Amino acid sequence: MTNFWGGNILWFMTSSNNSLDNKSNAWSARFSEPVSELVQRYTASINFDKRLAQVDIQGSLAHAQMLAEQNIISQKDFEQIKQGLNEILQDIIEGRFTWQISLEDVHLNIEAKLTQMIGDAGKRLHTARSRNDQVATDIRLWLRGQIDVLVLQLIELRTGMLDLAEKHADMIMPGFTHLQVAQPITVGHHLMAYAEMFARDTARLKDCRKRVNQLPLGSAALAGTSYPIHRERVAELLGFEGVCQNSLDAVSDRDFAIEFCAVTALIMTHISRLSEELILWMSPQFGFITLPDRFCTGSSIMPQKKNPDVPELARGKTGRVYGNLMSMLTLMKGQVLAYNKDNQEDKEPLFDSADTVLDTLRIFTDMVPHIEFNAANLRIAALKGYATATDLADYLVKKGIPFRDAHESVANAIKYCVSHQCDLADLDLRTLSMACGLEKQSDLLGEDVFEVLTLEGSVSSRLQVGGTAPTQVRAAITIARIDIPPSLK
Ligand code: ARG
Repeated sequence: MTNFWGGNILWFMTSSNNSLDNKSNAWSARFSEPVSELVQRYTASINFDKRLAQVDIQGSLAHAQMLAEQNIISQKDFEQIKQGLNEILQDIIEGRFTWQISLEDVHLNIEAKLTQMIGDAGKRLHTARSRNDQVATDIRLWLRGQIDVLVLQLIELRTGMLDLAEKHADMIMPGFTHLQVAQPITVGHHLMAYAEMFARDTARLKDCRKRVNQLPLGSAALAGTSYPIHRERVAELLGFEGVCQNSLDAVSDRDFAIEFCAVTALIMTHISRLSEELILWMSPQFGFITLPDRFCTGSSIMPQKKNPDVPELARGKTGRVYGNLMSMLTLMKGQVLAYNKDNQEDKEPLFDSADTVLDTLRIFTDMVPHIEFNAANLRIAALKGYATATDLADYLVKKGIPFRDAHESVANAIKYCVSHQCDLADLDLRTLSMACGLEKQSDLLGEDVFEVLTLEGSVSSRLQVGGTAPTQVRAAITIARIDIPPSLK
């Protein structure tokens, strides 16, 4: 079980038996009748935004400290606020805090409790602040933490991938295009393709973090504040790299969260592609791999079944992560400046994307090192599809035949092999010349042709940067490891 900040535990609201006055709201004097129970439930976000409690308190503490430093509130008020908020945090962590739906959201719940505990000092906390800049700050603080966790997880997954690739740097498998056998490749090379994808995903997360890590607080409701606040000081206290430069933009745009949802959607795209391969490879028709039992399930009716549930679910969950991105984009697109309540809908998709991707990456980090490859089946599959045909064409080119003609000759030879149900390497030299339509230039083909017709000869010849040769794969792994922090090597 993760702690509740990780979001995997339902530490839910208990019914509202709190001693706070439920009938009064932050804006109550202006209103002559309370909202209906349905409207209250419809507009409240406490069920899901209580996840932001810790960062909400963190933000409030920095805000209050700055207010005191700027003499906007007294030092005594700040001390009381600090003590009260720390007690509330402790209560929340230990599950003693009672959340009230009548208090709508995490911000009002905590503020009401603080005021109940310390009186007027609690009421002063909200000076020079609005829930609009408060919630934008909370989301950014929370998301920054999530990004850091995801980056570490991705690095760990990628390390596992690099180790697996190194172990299988020489193992032959068929490479596919159009899911038809194309050319032989090494398993290490195939796995390194995913390591590359995960490296870009990591870079994208780190890049997104820069735009997340800007402080909205101080923008107040929408127009900024007349109090002599010190925004840079709050940014410094909270570890933000800078302050948002326009108050209207700061309280309203959620592009940083949309960007995160886009990055996570891409991570899931990569995971889903890998999953699709694992699912295919595990089927008896391929027989390329086995996955440990703990990532699979059986069938309640067919005793022989071992289903790749984890990759299938990861492929399926990719859909909801895409959906979250679409929700966030759509949520934003019609909003006039500045804050609109629509934005309250940003949290559930954002939380869901972060949770789904983190869980998925954790499981894949555990699973990937345990994928077992069946070398014999991979070799048989690579031999099946005339995978070295390109190598034969390249051989002919090296003997002076133009590539297009060489391509045609080999196509003839393949046609011959298909009708005789044999492989190129099964033909003797004379038959091969004849099948290529090269009987008149029979001296073109020498015994050395059989070297390129072998799978090993084929892969080791592709030794340029980015190629499948085992030497090249090992070089790529060495370079890839440079990115990995020493603690994870
Ligand atoms: N719960 C709100 C949200 O998530 C907080 C901001 C509310 N601001 C307001 N003006 N009603 O967006």
